[in-house]
Amino acid sequence: MSRPTLGLIGGTGLNAFEERWETLDVDTPYGAPAAPLRVVENDSMRILFLPRHGDPHRFPPHAVNYRANLWALKQAGAEAILAVNAVGGIHPRLATGHFCVPNQLIDYTWGRDSTFFETDLDFVTHIDFSEPYDSALRQKLVEVLVSRSIAHSPSGTYGVTQGPRLETAAEIRRMEMDGCDIVGMTAMPEAGLARELNLPYVCLALVVNPAAGKAAGPISMADIEAVLSDGMDQVQSVLSAFVASL
Ligand code: HPA
Repeated sequence: MSRPTLGLIGGTGLNAFEERWETLDVDTPYGAPAAPLRVVENDSMRILFLPRHGDPHRFPPHAVNYRANLWALKQAGAEAILAVNAVGGIHPRLATGHFCVPNQLIDYTWGRDSTFFETDLDFVTHIDFSEPYDSALRQKLVEVLVSRSIAHSPSGTYGVTQGPRLETAAEIRRMEMDGCDIVGMTAMPEAGLARELNLPYVCLALVVNPAAGKAAGPISMADIEAVLSDGMDQVQSVLSAFVASL
């Protein structure tokens, strides 16, 4: 029997899941994914790792070819997707360095290629997206965070902005009133495309800065990078435990 296959989409800062991998070039009807897939296998699992922004990091959030990324993972056999995202913290409980396993999102992006059901107008498809994240996978991820005593929030609403600029303080205030707990630029259309392909999808978000207006002064890229480099070590260990739990 073939092994279960997990697609792992790495965000900013997570560029190497393992040291040893084989690469798999995949082409799709939507063009090439951000990078060749890296295949990591053990006795019980196959993991397809894809750095969302390319390797080296070269596609900003609004220019990622999300359709090619998702299609390539599905075509190569992924049965579920774990996405890692760096985000800003809006809710006070989501301090820098905390993780969040969101259960909801609000899409503020525009102009991105956001569906596979674009041209076949004989077969108009509206996927259900009431719950954008897979609850069984979320539960497993939360169990790993709890078992390792890692500071996290087991739920939250991810507000997805267009970028690449960060938000204004007023935009964050509005998002807070909308109910957003974290803000990032890459959860959509990724999560919607995964649902269109029938791929259960879960997100591990790492808070790398207080959102605009939530701390004194401007948001510094140097501060974000410092948090990312510490946080990604934790991400690696969470991912290993998550994979072992599947
Ligand atoms: N806003 C949007 N995206 C982000 C942020 C932010 O503050 N931090 C990391 N990704």
